Amino acid sequence: MSQTNFEPKIVGFLCNWCSYRAADLAGIARITHAPNVRIVRVMCSGRVDPTFVLKALSLGADGVMIAGCHPGECHYVDQNYKAMRRYHLLKHTLHAMGVEPDRVRLVWASAAEGQQLAEAIDGLVADVKKLGPLGWSQNWEENGERLHALEEIINEHAEAMEVHA
Ligand code: FES
Repeated sequence: MSQTNFEPKIVGFLCNWCSYRAADLAGIARITHAPNVRIVRVMCSGRVDPTFVLKALSLGADGVMIAGCHPGECHYVDQNYKAMRRYHLLKHTLHAMGVEPDRVRLVWASAAEGQQLAEAIDGLVADVKKLGPLGWSQNWEENGERLHALEEIINEHAEAMEVHA
């Protein structure tokens, strides 16, 4: 596949209380953004175990966005600070695994920030386009099964979660 024709598959784990609503707002307000993101709604960015991200990549995603409420505005007090700590550890892990850390991005977007979320999506898509496909992406199938598997990610490792859906 030539780099110019490459359309990355991006998985977005979006917090229900802010970024998911920002995505809704973007849709309602007809704010355009790259259509490459498959959204998985989670109750909080702190709900996103790093294994969710690794599994999304292993299932064929070329990049992953984690989006949550701004620091200080998490509906579960400080779980987005946990997301931030995990994010930095995850970037180190990805680097150690030979995966470009820039494929994964943590974004803060309130429910009112549809425009900002759209711009963040466009930015991630553009950056992942430059990186090219991740080797695992040949496993992606646009038949609904992959999306189902991605949605099932949050049902795994439930015992490790402190914020429940
Ligand atoms: S509730 Fe949105 S990041 Fe925690």
